[in-house]
Amino acid sequence: MTGKPGTALITGGNGNLGRLVGERLKEQGVRVIKFDIPGTGSSQRVMDQSDDNEVVVQGDVRDVGLLRETMERYRPDTIFHLASLLSGSSEADIQMAWEVNASASFQLMQLAMEFKVGRFFFASTLASYGEVEESPMVQDFPQWPSNLYGVTKIAVERLGVYFKLKHGMDFRCLRFPLVLSPFAPKAAVTAYPSHALRAAFNQSSFVFPVSANISVSTIFLDDVVDSIVQFTAADRDALTQHAYSLHAYCLSTTMVIDAARKRFPGFEYRHEIIGSVEELIGGWPSAIDDEVAKKDWEWNPAYDFEKSVMQLFQMFSAEAR
Ligand SMILES: NC(=O)c1ccc[n+]([C@@H]2O[C@H](COP(=O)([O-])OP(=O)(O)OC[C@H]3O[C@@H](n4cnc5c(N)ncnc54)[C@H](O)[C@@H]3O)[C@@H](O)[C@H]2O)c1
Repeated sequence: MTGKPGTALITGGNGNLGRLVGERLKEQGVRVIKFDIPGTGSSQRVMDQSDDNEVVVQGDVRDVGLLRETMERYRPDTIFHLASLLSGSSEADIQMAWEVNASASFQLMQLAMEFKVGRFFFASTLASYGEVEESPMVQDFPQWPSNLYGVTKIAVERLGVYFKLKHGMDFRCLRFPLVLSPFAPKAAVTAYPSHALRAAFNQSSFVFPVSANISVSTIFLDDVVDSIVQFTAADRDALTQHAYSLHAYCLSTTMVIDAARKRFPGFEYRHEIIGSVEELIGGWPSAIDDEVAKKDWEWNPAYDFEKSVMQLFQMFSAEAR
């Protein structure tokens, strides 16, 4: 993807971000190779049935043989490494989380070096920090996460920096805060702002797992996708950091309730606080100083909360039609 369209391998390519990043890249003429486990994605295409600009390889990122075969066959110049177990599933099976999130990333980085892939993008998270007392949080705030998901993300961040400094890999990493998204998995309790707005739209009541005064750094889905594509295309010389923590706006539970009630005055809710969620989210910063991202690669989120809510309700309406 340097100057002219090339070939991008997206691990987790059938996931929420993978699908959207893939669409965006295809619009730019990039050939997209999606790698994801069988049974994910709607229109499955296997390695032998590829069209010109999209291929789906069904497999497990732990299968280094298949990854090698994929690299040999498609010779990607960029990797978007998005395959991951998320926080709940990581805690539910810590062995598998380490294998999928950490060990498989190590194998993929070695293949990236061997096949001379140009750029390697990795999606990290605010969950890679533990409790953050300061707000706005500075970019180099120490990362001491309390859950295994965060631990695996840091492991990969550090591996990426090792391959960058020792072996010249063009490793790039963004850490995302809480994401407001119509695709927030039902099981993800930390995605309560997205779930609450969906409940309001469906004229259902909602139970918040956190108290009204909790606020957290947040970003809208479209800005996540845009940032991944824009950042990965940025000039390497302009990037002064190995990883950038992004922030769009501070979102409190009260703001979510007000936004829901503004459009659906009958929206009913209550709070049933889940201690672990309150502790986790309460420990996250409500703002992050991301001036360096703005300066280095012109990061500029397009969505404030009001615009995010408008877009979210439009997406819910489109889904319902
Ligand atoms: N959406 C968010 O809130 C958010 C925030 C910060 C970071 N991230 C990171 O962004 C990336 C993408 O997130 P998402 O929201 O699209 O999640 P997602 O769960 O929708 O996508 C992850 C994809 O990885 C695939 N996958 C899981 N295990 C695999 C395996 N063993 N082999 C191959 N594929 C496998 C899944 O099938 C899924 O399609 C993840 O790395 C996630 O940690 C997401």
